[in-house]
Amino acid sequence: MSAVAARPPNREQIRIAARSFKQDPHPVLDRWRASAPMVQVPAPLVGRAWVLSRHPDVVALLKDPRLVKDRTNVDGRDPTDPLAVPDGGRPIRRRGSGGPLAPLLTGMLDRDDPDHARLRRLAQAAFTPRRIELLAGRIGQIADGLLDGLARQGRFDLIGAYALPLPVVVISEMLGVPEAERAWVVRGSKALIALGQAPWSMALALPSVLVFMQRIRSLIARRRADPGDDVLSALIAAQDGGGALDDDELLAMVVLLLSAGHETTTNLIGNGVAALLAHPQARDQLVADRSLAAPAIEELLRFAPPVETTTFRYARADIEVAGTLVRRGEAVLGLIGSANRDETVFDRPHQLDLARTPNRHLTFGMGGHYCLGAPLARLEGAIAIPALLERFPRLRLADPSGGLRWRPGLVLRGLERLPVCID
Ligand code: HEM
Repeated sequence: MSAVAARPPNREQIRIAARSFKQDPHPVLDRWRASAPMVQVPAPLVGRAWVLSRHPDVVALLKDPRLVKDRTNVDGRDPTDPLAVPDGGRPIRRRGSGGPLAPLLTGMLDRDDPDHARLRRLAQAAFTPRRIELLAGRIGQIADGLLDGLARQGRFDLIGAYALPLPVVVISEMLGVPEAERAWVVRGSKALIALGQAPWSMALALPSVLVFMQRIRSLIARRRADPGDDVLSALIAAQDGGGALDDDELLAMVVLLLSAGHETTTNLIGNGVAALLAHPQARDQLVADRSLAAPAIEELLRFAPPVETTTFRYARADIEVAGTLVRRGEAVLGLIGSANRDETVFDRPHQLDLARTPNRHLTFGMGGHYCLGAPLARLEGAIAIPALLERFPRLRLADPSGGLRWRPGLVLRGLERLPVCID
């Protein structure tokens, strides 16, 4: 037994991946920040997870080397065993232990240094703020093209017609996914997210995820034979040149970039526009003053974050986190949506204030796994949202009385649909 002094376990039954929680998480999050800053809740894939709700605790979590992303780095694991998880969760097999999904666990988001640093370095060059800035003109063209098509319709679903296709085209062009093949990027990513939900959705999603992996393998083979001027060809050249990453790692990298590269940004545009439509004064302020775009995007990222939680981290050994004993192998999550409303860090945290500065939101995480795509996401948001509002000054919810439906799932928070009118 460790020497860690522990508070009694604080367990709750609230399902943070359920649609009912996603609809309006703030009453629960406010209560947790006030009186239960660390609780253990049911969570998909791992059975139960500790969740941290206060800003300083989430910052500390994201910088804590005692917590690992790769379960095979938990001390004392028998490396030949499937990774049984505490508390009745679903076992995830370790790398190399077989299983069709095992390659997906070799991406940078599921690794620790030095492997994490090696993989991240390979992708980093394509995502620096300077490289991303060069895409501004092209992102503007894509936004304008989509808006031209929408101008002919009076009413449409903003998610399906704008918030989703824009980042899909951007990340697909960066990686060299041909236009005719982009529908499977969307289908495959959706299936991947469903894997992290209820066991029944996992079973339904598995075949689509396997097809997604197969299609990416085929794309890699074609790019290897016929390289282009894209990020995938550069990654293949790095692999062929110095053995910098193996086949599974290359596959996992492409899956991660394609999925993280659009699901999150779709939510930035969708959640951001929904928040502005609910706050007409803020929306008018943004239309009147384009120089507000950068701070406005930061505030929308804080107020209606596209991700509600961090990904899982696992205690390498028995440790104390925020005064609570976390046992070796147990999973811990930071509640980003809660940290962003922490009243000890943000003045009037429940108010949307487009000029808010400083704005120390945690929407892109922090520490070694800080979002690689943050410059790209910020640029897409800063172009897409003002362009939409300028083109359609009368944009409004199609049904102002109807509630919006949020998608279930652990990490992301986004709308199922956002029906709007423009005339
Ligand atoms: C508004 C949009 C986005 C949000 C809110 C977001 C959020 C995040 C967060 C919170 C993390 C860290 C998770 C953790 O530490 O547990 C992360 C990591 C990551 N994101 Fe994003 N992301 C966004 C857009 C993008 C885009 C456009 C890309 C482009 C490819 C991207 C690629 C990645 C990658 C590769 C990682 C893993 C980094 C690592 O492990 O070192 N993200 N993202």
